Amino acid sequence: MRKPVMAGNWKMNKTRDEALQFIYAVNNELPSNEKVESVICAPAILLRCLVKRQGDELRIGAQNMHYAENGAYTGEIAPNMLESTGVSYVILGHSERREMFNETDEAINKKIVAALNHEITPIVCCGETLAEREANRVEEILGNQIRKAYAGLPSEQVVKTIIAYEPIWAIGTGKTATPEVADETCGYVRSVIKEMYGAEVSEAIRILYGGSVKPSNVDELMAKENIDGGLVGGASLEAESFLKLVKACVK
Ligand code: PGA
Repeated sequence: MRKPVMAGNWKMNKTRDEALQFIYAVNNELPSNEKVESVICAPAILLRCLVKRQGDELRIGAQNMHYAENGAYTGEIAPNMLESTGVSYVILGHSERREMFNETDEAINKKIVAALNHEITPIVCCGETLAEREANRVEEILGNQIRKAYAGLPSEQVVKTIIAYEPIWAIGTGKTATPEVADETCGYVRSVIKEMYGAEVSEAIRILYGGSVKPSNVDELMAKENIDGGLVGGASLEAESFLKLVKACVK
């Protein structure tokens, strides 16, 4: 009953020509958006060119956004700029931004509110490090991230967001969480949403798994009850591979 989402996160990859090649290769091959939301989150400089050429079944997302409407924030991009570019999604709080660019839970909270004000669907990331998992702190870390990210948000807004659970130790490492661990942890995230907003919201919100998802493991991950799609880096860069990932969501 929850519509799956397959979101590619290109990170800092692809020139304009490479991006165009990709989009022309996937445009007519994607399943209907009624069945699965296919999203490519591209570097900001490519967004307009992709939005102009996106096929009917593809949506374009950004990888970050400032929360302010405008102002003296050199190098940043405002929510109304993304909106006017035709972007439908934005990744917020990716672990690479938290770790390398000092993004805090408080800033992520403001960004979620700003994105929703501009009708952009936030893909809100959470995840633990290997040391935190080994110290049995997964619930504490994820609970904290989710509670702070969603602080003060009304439930009718919460259901419009998407959460991506991405264990940091599985990102770009080739080490995927087992489907059981991924499902169990996405289930825990759902239980935090249930505690905050009740069963109806927690049953409706989409929770994605991310971290070394690829065509060879996507089927078993997508078969899990609590996993509603993927946020995929490396395996989203090639058209053929991305198409396989999307198609695995509609089987
Ligand atoms: P990966 O990246 O698929 O390359 O592990 C996932 C992500 O960072 O979103």
